[in-house]
Amino acid sequence: MLEFKQNIRGNVALGVNPLGCKQEVLNQIDYVKSKGTYEGPKKVLIIGASSSYGLATRISLAFGARADTIGVSFEKGPKNEKNLGTAGWYNNIAFREAAEKEGLVAKNFVQDAFSHESKQEIIDYIKNEFGGKVDLVVYSLASGRRTDPDTGETYTSSIKALSEPVVGPNINMQNHSFYTETLDPATDEEIAGTVKVMGGEDWQLWMEALKAAGVLADGVLTTNYSYLGTELNRPYYGGGTLGLAKADCDEKAENINELLADINGKAEIVVATAVTTKASSVIPFFPVYCIALYKVMSDKGTHETPIMHQDRIYREMIYGEKSEYDEMGRLRPDSWELDSDTQAQTKELISKLNKDNFNSEIAAYDILFKEFSNLSGFMVDGYTEQEVTIEDLKALNY
Ligand code: NAI
Repeated sequence: MLEFKQNIRGNVALGVNPLGCKQEVLNQIDYVKSKGTYEGPKKVLIIGASSSYGLATRISLAFGARADTIGVSFEKGPKNEKNLGTAGWYNNIAFREAAEKEGLVAKNFVQDAFSHESKQEIIDYIKNEFGGKVDLVVYSLASGRRTDPDTGETYTSSIKALSEPVVGPNINMQNHSFYTETLDPATDEEIAGTVKVMGGEDWQLWMEALKAAGVLADGVLTTNYSYLGTELNRPYYGGGTLGLAKADCDEKAENINELLADINGKAEIVVATAVTTKASSVIPFFPVYCIALYKVMSDKGTHETPIMHQDRIYREMIYGEKSEYDEMGRLRPDSWELDSDTQAQTKELISKLNKDNFNSEIAAYDILFKEFSNLSGFMVDGYTEQEVTIEDLKALNY
């Protein structure tokens, strides 16, 4: 029988509990079902569908709006008892099994979304097996690297400040420690690389390819998740390399809006709230902001996990009546996080945190660590141990 061990290096999870991942997907499905159904899109393509925001979006749309979905992700399957693959691999399988049980189409593509070949393969699938058109395209990729499909050059993204170094507290979830970190300013090459990987270029390439192939329905919507944050994280996030990549997405949204005008389509930037994900856990200082923010928001009853946030975005905002837009036309579900009292209390709490108290009831390290663990199938509510072998896992098909 396999033993699943939570193995964390820095803030990167290396271990996985495949059965815990399945239970976590089922818990998210139950959350959506508990809210009932809503009218939404019926044919959806989600790029970056296997974890956190992309997965939560897919679960909400499938189990809330009864959408057929195509999910694209880059994950690894099990090799041997020591290398069980990635959580997203098992999330894809659990999602497909649950969706198919309810008569929904749930097609997974596990390959590099940045390549021309992937785009073509998915277009062919939409044309030949998915009814010919999609009415929503969700872009929820987060990656450290991207190979430009035209030049073959590989770019790397860096999470860095821009002109001045940033010094501040950070948290290491491997050994539960609170320490001071210095973040250097990025070089020009690092800035350009981050924009190339995390900016909007690939989103635009997807939309151009889908449009040229005639697989976008009239009135198609495409969403892309951004983050703006506040003065509490601006030096290393909004005002750093990632912020420039997000600004590039704003620009590309305008290009996509022009591209889609003749089919009444729309590109929407969704400024989402801070949540615990594989990608956000490695942003320096961000865990400290999160444990203060989560404490304040959970006390106020406004703290959300990805499934809660994405379900609210699609059910109540995009396909409901509670949309809030800013002056640039971006959807602002992050208004709960940006609420002035929430930010004032978060600021005060951060100023009180130190290595002796960060892991106490004054903050929400417990919430952060549980959510982080849940991403790899650990500490999952409702999980019960079952006997499983490596052969059982290898037999699972995405
Ligand atoms: P995540 O790391 O949980 O998920 C990323 C997804 O992209 C996974 O499905 C992964 O398989 C897929 N992926 C990565 N490289 C790929 C490739 N080459 N080909 C195909 N799929 C690939 O990330 P998370 O945090 O859910 O981020 C999604 C988006 O949400 C990002 O744009 C992020 O900036 C944004 N966002 C995140 C916030 C946060 O606090 N986590 C806040 C606001 C926005």
